Amino acid sequence: MNIISVVGARPNFMKIAPIYRVLEEKRKNLEVKNDSAKTITFFQPPAIIHKICHTGQHYDDKLSGIFFEELGLPKPDFYLGVGSGSHAEQTARIIIKFEKVLLKQEPDLVIVVGDVNSTIACSLTAVKLGVKVAHVEAGLRSFDRSMPEEINRILTDSISDYLFVTEKSGVDNLKHEGIPDNKIHFVGHVMIDNLVHYLPISENSNVLKRFKLNKNDYILVTLHRPSNVDFRERLEEIINLLNRLSEKKKVILPIHPRTRKNMYEFGLDKKISENIIITDPIGYIDFIKLTKNSQLIITDSGGIQEESTYLGNQCITIRTSTERPVTVEIGTNHLVGDDLKKAEDTALSILSGSKKSGKTPELWDGKAANRIVEILMKDF
Ligand code: UD1
Repeated sequence: MNIISVVGARPNFMKIAPIYRVLEEKRKNLEVKNDSAKTITFFQPPAIIHKICHTGQHYDDKLSGIFFEELGLPKPDFYLGVGSGSHAEQTARIIIKFEKVLLKQEPDLVIVVGDVNSTIACSLTAVKLGVKVAHVEAGLRSFDRSMPEEINRILTDSISDYLFVTEKSGVDNLKHEGIPDNKIHFVGHVMIDNLVHYLPISENSNVLKRFKLNKNDYILVTLHRPSNVDFRERLEEIINLLNRLSEKKKVILPIHPRTRKNMYEFGLDKKISENIIITDPIGYIDFIKLTKNSQLIITDSGGIQEESTYLGNQCITIRTSTERPVTVEIGTNHLVGDDLKKAEDTALSILSGSKKSGKTPELWDGKAANRIVEILMKDF
């Protein structure tokens, strides 16, 4: 089994890490078996070769390097260094560079995760060279084609050979799009595997102390969607909302580079209340601790809607749609659309004690990567 896993942007690293851990364990077990079979005297190629390709879509240490260190991932075997650019430039640069890697390495399988530009670029490159593709986190749909991620999801799913799905809605979406049943595997969520693995470790983080925060007594905010941060008026309205909330509760905002850049360009940095703690993007372990101990989360991220549902934390999502409906249907996510008045009312009611109770979605049990590797090993 000769596999290349692709990572590119921040949310990819924590999804590949559990797959890496399971494949490493299998590889080591198979090597021990081979060693102890004394009859084998001729050279045996390793049973599992797993290499990691980092496209370099995210390149800042705080969006990339820190995750490799914290998640125990090895240095990537291939680094494409594509950097930022328009969607066309970024996607095209990845395709050109990844094709060279594939031609040289001739893997049996490429694993892609999530919905970022690296996901579609690498899956497209692989299928065109006849290399099988496994898409982890397949089937999610926001039904909003103005989101670049929605296009990446639809295209990647339509060309992948293995579609590993995190929640039941994903299975329905794929069937509806005519994907044959034998390609669809409902396995749970690798990102939750990673959360389960790192939760006990995150207890040792001193992030609350560093930011002088008390448990269950602050609001954690993340914002980076173009629809919220790329337009001056919208970003200003959101900042005004956060300013008002910060009069009632401490707010911490680890700021994404896209949001920071726009905030300065629009001159909104001067409008932010001093009560809001603005900090650079935060590492994975600190971030889990911040999420777990928050009274309320306000976000437009995809993954944080799921992590908060798993942890049972109240989360307000300021987006018009979610591709992760299970977090709203049975989890603790409140999808308020782009109506900031609704966001504020919901936030105030949560701060005064009201809570949506939630359940853990099916198969979010920390074993998704094991299921994925089992399915793949049957075929290779
Ligand atoms: C990308 C993903 C998005 C994901 C997000 C997580 C796509 C289409 N978007 O959005 O789905 O939720 O990552 O963060 O793939 N920048 C830096 N340093 C970096 C990377 C980017 O400063 O390491 C700045 C650059 O100014 C860049 C901007 O951030 O132009 C946006 O980066 P980009 O990779 O284009 O998209 P994200 O908004 O990060």
